[in-house]
Amino acid sequence: MRMPEFELERYFARHEFDAPYLLSSSNMETVRMDGLLDLADDEGRRMWENLSLGYTEPQGHPLLREEIASLYETVPPEGVLVFSGAEEAIFALSSVVCGERRGGRAAVVWPAYQSLYEVARSAGAQLDLLELRHEDGWALDPDALEDLVGPSTGLVALNFPHNPTGAQPDAETFSRAVDVAREAGATLLSDEVYRLLEHDPADRLPAAADLHEGAVSLGVMSKSFGLAGLRIGWLATRDLDLLRRVAAFKDYTTICNSAPSEVLALIALRAKEEILGRNLGIVLENLPHADAFFEKWRGTMEWTRPRVGCIGFPRLLADHPTDRFAADLVEGEGVMLLPGGVYGHPGNHFRLGFGRRDFPQALERLDRFAERRLA
Ligand SMILES: Cc1ncc(COP(=O)(O)O)c(C=O)c1O
Repeated sequence: MRMPEFELERYFARHEFDAPYLLSSSNMETVRMDGLLDLADDEGRRMWENLSLGYTEPQGHPLLREEIASLYETVPPEGVLVFSGAEEAIFALSSVVCGERRGGRAAVVWPAYQSLYEVARSAGAQLDLLELRHEDGWALDPDALEDLVGPSTGLVALNFPHNPTGAQPDAETFSRAVDVAREAGATLLSDEVYRLLEHDPADRLPAAADLHEGAVSLGVMSKSFGLAGLRIGWLATRDLDLLRRVAAFKDYTTICNSAPSEVLALIALRAKEEILGRNLGIVLENLPHADAFFEKWRGTMEWTRPRVGCIGFPRLLADHPTDRFAADLVEGEGVMLLPGGVYGHPGNHFRLGFGRRDFPQALERLDRFAERRLA
């Protein structure tokens, strides 16, 4: 299996641990270990203190699966398979589904986190990209999806809330898209890693796994919870036969998950109201700064303000390629901005992340740089 470089991850690898300000991160501000342990209930604390470090159950710790299942309306704990991050889950599911139907097609939303289409392609699928457009406010069009899928479509991969735009459709539109996949007889991989951080909780979409018994919802501790270092993600579905085949694949990747990470994820999920509430507070404090920034730079930059999550995909209207702009910004101001080119997107966009506490300071530096470069 030959896979091309993952452009976004290579870009992050170059800058993430050197640049003092990260203005494109897709995950929330994290917490320290002591802060997380302070949130543990008695059982969680006991599990942490008495943890033994052998192999863990391949499907995931039973209590963790139970806690994850409670995030869904209809998925039983046996319908949850825990992975080392969402990334492993995408790799396993896409490899299984596309590998079983080599030469089949995969319909994937675009622009997208690269593994959502690259793994399918590497596993033998031919891609049909469902493009979201800036001009349409990044709207999902279920009719366009219907035109893309057919009898040879084995996999449909959606991602709402969406990376990089932060867009999400209304519940009816999303449900129609889920129906399109169901009617085509395709496996739906619904990447929902940015779920649970709706700016207005009334905007929360139902999980695809609850809408359709054959759909698979993907979740993770990295994004809304800000716990990327745990590397805990999961697939949730009522299709237990599919899950069994994916679990068999996982024997060739990690076999089972990190024991400490599973317990810490359990502690965090049991404290989800507190953690998500804190994180939403950060986002809601940061957004007015972004509003003022885009108001000031109206005519030079524009964006569709997201209603969920902590990323958006603004466009630079000035005659400056964002890759050059981002390279000079990190050099001159120590601020990392992700140019849209890493998504293979031609529209001179960049990804903005507003989930970190130092967002106002980082934005100030971007503003200062823009004054020099664009004013
Ligand atoms: C849409 C999407 N899916 C999956 C992932 C992978 O998540 P993780 O790094 O937690 O494995 C990411 C990470 O950026 C993402 O943006």
